[in-house]
Amino acid sequence: MKLLLRDLAQLATPAGRDAPLRGRALGGVDVLDDAFVLCDGEAIEAVGRMRDLAPVDGEVVEFDGRGLCAVPGLVDCHTHAAFGGDRVEEFSLRAGGASYEELHAAGGGILSTVRAARALGEDGLRAAVERHRDWMRAAGTTTFEAKSGYGLDKDTELASLRAIRAAGGIPTWLGAHAVPPEFADAAAYLDFALAEVLPEAAEIAEAADVFLERGAFDAAQARRYLEACRDAGLALRIHGDQFTESGAIPLAIELGARSVDHLEATGADGIMALAASDVTGVLLPASALFLDRPMPPARTLVDAGAAVALASDFNPGSSFTESLPLVCSLACTQLHLSPSEALAACTVNAAHVLGRADRIGRLAPGYRADIALLDAPDWRYLAYHLGGRVVSRVVAGGEPAS
Ligand code: NIG
Ligand code: FE
Repeated sequence: MKLLLRDLAQLATPAGRDAPLRGRALGGVDVLDDAFVLCDGEAIEAVGRMRDLAPVDGEVVEFDGRGLCAVPGLVDCHTHAAFGGDRVEEFSLRAGGASYEELHAAGGGILSTVRAARALGEDGLRAAVERHRDWMRAAGTTTFEAKSGYGLDKDTELASLRAIRAAGGIPTWLGAHAVPPEFADAAAYLDFALAEVLPEAAEIAEAADVFLERGAFDAAQARRYLEACRDAGLALRIHGDQFTESGAIPLAIELGARSVDHLEATGADGIMALAASDVTGVLLPASALFLDRPMPPARTLVDAGAAVALASDFNPGSSFTESLPLVCSLACTQLHLSPSEALAACTVNAAHVLGRADRIGRLAPGYRADIALLDAPDWRYLAYHLGGRVVSRVVAGGEPAS
């Protein structure tokens, strides 16, 4: 079955076929006015201008795209969607002046979500991830990564990873997110996690992640965790430089990690080192906004030639938003990226972080037919319509999905 999206006001897609896009190439977007997308099954067969549309063979379902713009289905390469409960009480306390790090040190924060996730059980986790996936999809996300990290015991970590996979997400084992209360210290917890959880986690997850930060895991502990995960066949990610520069960038480069994520505290040396490396910097401006922290040095990173991606960091504590369009708005207003750079950062470059840039993140023949349709006369409304319902419909794998 073919699907023809016709008479689109505009179609916008990152130019070329390379990944990741860096420097000036990050802003290279092809824009077609009065455009079509022809999908054949799960893949894109052709894109172009309506005046160049050739007669289509076989059975075709046509979709009237007048007044809409098509961009690649958005790719969220950093979420914590496997959570239960909420942190609305903590949100209120923070509004009154309490800091995120203080709440974490007092046994709240991440550990309060650990209690809620453990109480959900496997069925509850599955329902939660499906619900969060549906929220993301309504906002234009057709591919999402999600981390465990709110279980921190064997059953809940593995159930979280299975729930993410069952919901169509790409699972990352965040086994080193916090030290749960039943362990005396980080070393004792890592002994357990690496011996008891890693072997089965590595069968389900594609990557491993660690929270390298004051009050969480230090560089030596992160190295131990990541080396074991790498030896088990997992790709590597690091939550780094969120509050302090604690050695995340040098460690990520040394270990060949896919990404370092956050970077709100990264200074000049880290920027230059990252720019000269193959590690992608994943920027999470919604998290910086939600915690009232400094924004990451995005403009300097891009101008220095670093590969950057944008993601939501969707989680109940530090970034309770599933919206990549909102993240694109923040990228333009707070990180000083252009709409074109923002689009590439949450499509092709995010797909690169997930090892899928050869098949998702662009509207081009052969790529998966994942399309976000914007209710807008110009595709840049993706970033311009701050907090608006800009995504009106999504096509996922050639199927109209919302
Ligand atoms: O990326 N910083 C560590 N982890 C998450 C927050 C998790 C939470 O607060 O529940 C983050 O911001
Ligand atoms: Fe995160």
